[in-house]
Formats: sequence, structure tokens, C-alpha cells
Amino acid sequence: VSESVEQMIERLCVKIPDYPEPGVLFRDLTPLFADAAGFRRTIDALVDAFRGQFDYVAGIEARGFLMAGAVAYASGVGLIPVRKAGKLPRETFREEYVLEYGSAVLEIHTDDVPRGARVLVLDDILATGGTLGATAQLLHRAGLHVAGFGLVMELTDLRGRSRLGGHRVRALYRV
Ligand code: PRP
Repeated sequence: VSESVEQMIERLCVKIPDYPEPGVLFRDLTPLFADAAGFRRTIDALVDAFRGQFDYVAGIEARGFLMAGAVAYASGVGLIPVRKAGKLPRETFREEYVLEYGSAVLEIHTDDVPRGARVLVLDDILATGGTLGATAQLLHRAGLHVAGFGLVMELTDLRGRSRLGGHRVRALYRV
């Protein structure tokens, strides 16, 4: 294999200026997900980075679900869906957070996973870190340990990493 996973992500990410608002450069990873080799190598790289270090994965709605389902299956672990407000039917922990554009609420069920488990958090992109920071808070409130954060891409100029405490962060492609 001559192309690295970083090069593959760079090649298959499409940049859209002024979407969804003027001044925002949107990074669209759907071509990476649509590419069989691109998707497989992305998932394999995330699994390799945290092998043996987690008991569950958490995937953040919506695009984090794509990473989490595949990593959970490949690793033989269960999955925690971290959902936007109002989607979960039972008692939840709830965290409000600020995004690059707008604000939102994330929730998890309070009792899906035994306390003390190590959870690898997965998403497509780390931008400001608001989403992952809120997710870490949710897991903490549920008595779970954050094993680390696995991302396809990190937008380094937004300094989201600084909001993630001492947790391990592995972004396959940093730009
Ligand atoms: C995007 C992306 C991450 C988050 C990163 O999701 O998938 O979850 O933003 O931004 P942050 O580091 O500044 O918090 P978005 O909120 O657009 O939701 P979606 O996946 O449902 O489209």
C-alpha cells in the first residue's frame, strides 16, 4: 500500500467554502466513507490506535455513529450512542455545548453500561472540541472512564484539543 491513511483522507475530503454559513470552510468526508478502501483503512487505523485500551465505544450523532458502529464490530465491544436532545426514551444525562456555529444538547442513557468501564469516544471531526468535551462530561457523570478520543480529522487552528483535558487524542489527519 503506497498511500498512507492520512493521504487517503486528504484526497477523499471535499472542502466547501461558506457552508453552512459564510466564513465556514466545511470538510465533507462522505467521499471517504463511500470509498471501500478509504472507509476500511480509516476504521482499521482507529482500532489499531486504541487496541486493548477500551471496553466500549461511544459514537456521537450523527457522523460519529459511522465510526463507532464499525469500530465496535471490528473490536468485539458494545456501543453507546451519544444523541442529540430528545431522542432517547429513558432517563438521561444531558449536557449543553457550544458549536462552531450554534449550540446543542447531547444525551446518553444513565444505565446502559456498567460504571467503571473504559470508553473510546469516536467522531469524524474535532473542531472547537465542544462536542467531545460535552461527551466526556456525560461519560464522567455515568461513572465511565474516557479511554481516549479517536477522530478522522482534527482542525488544529481551532485548538479543540486543549478542551479535552489529559485524555489521549488520536486524529488520523490533522490540518
Ligand atoms: C460536527 C462533527 C462533530 C462536531 C465537531 O457535528 O461531526 O461532531 O461537529 O465540532 P466541535 O469540535 O466544534 O464540537 P455536527 O454538530 O455538525 O452534527 P451532525 O454530525 O449531526 O451533522
